[in-house]
Amino acid sequence: MKIRVLGSAAGGGFPQWNCNCPNCAGLRAGTLNARARTQSSLAVTGNATAAVLVNASPDILTQLQATPDLQPNRSMRDTAIAGIVLVDGQVDHTTGLYMLRESPRPWPIWCTDSTHADLTRGNPVLGVLEHFCGVDRRRIELDRDFTVDAVEGVTWRALPVASKPAPYSPNREAPIPGDNLALVITDDARGRSAVYAPGLGAIDEDLWDAMQAASCVLVDGTFWTDDEMIRLGVSRKRARDIGHLPQSGADGMLHWLGRLPAETRKILIHINNTNPILNESSAEFADLSAQGVEVARDGMEIFL
Ligand code: MLT
Ligand code: MN
Ligand code: ZN
Repeated sequence: MKIRVLGSAAGGGFPQWNCNCPNCAGLRAGTLNARARTQSSLAVTGNATAAVLVNASPDILTQLQATPDLQPNRSMRDTAIAGIVLVDGQVDHTTGLYMLRESPRPWPIWCTDSTHADLTRGNPVLGVLEHFCGVDRRRIELDRDFTVDAVEGVTWRALPVASKPAPYSPNREAPIPGDNLALVITDDARGRSAVYAPGLGAIDEDLWDAMQAASCVLVDGTFWTDDEMIRLGVSRKRARDIGHLPQSGADGMLHWLGRLPAETRKILIHINNTNPILNESSAEFADLSAQGVEVARDGMEIFL
């Protein structure tokens, strides 16, 4: 099984079009030791060419151009993407669905009932797709294994996680199980798994068990500190207000990652453009390296 990081940034990408925080301005000026990143998405392949697209990023077209394996050119209209799995209904994870409307057949889209509700009401992209390719909706049941047709050798399981659904969700201020998922992605032949959770506000027992059993965790790397956006003056919201556990602090993500086995690959993903870990010359980046924690990059490939 191979996991390719198509996009490693949080909503807005890096640099963000209207942002002049030290990271975004520094990257534009060429003075920052960092690389640009597109918005949050993975491609997962098993034994064959067929791939699962995990989240449809606003940057999907750029990501596909950067990933020739996803265009196998077997027919006049072709793609290796056999199905789409969504971890939530947020803008950065679903806007790319509009860009995929030229599909000659309905897209198999796996999502929970609450994400389906958001994507047919508050942000009715699935309804819009009915006027183009159509949608072959597959229901994700929580805590149950599922497979994606044509993507052989890979088993999926969705765990509900504490985070926040999109602002257009009726559950925004009182999330319900299924609004946000962690995915446990298992290579059947080797029995090795990865846990992917780009939006993670807290870690409960089931998720912690899955993280401890995994060979690789790809977890919420959005913010270094809870008040990062407030301090920079770019927002009035804290990381935890919008469903993201910051990396630093007593109960932060690094505290959890430090308790995982040494051999577990630990990768931060869905990184906001304000996060100092994007600067590879920063003290925060050095901290991570010392703790064996990696920062996801676009194009990174993980073999399990
Ligand atoms: C999030 O991860 O909190 C959202 O994707 C933010 C956004 O909508 O940009
Ligand atoms: Mn996001
Ligand atoms: Zn910025």
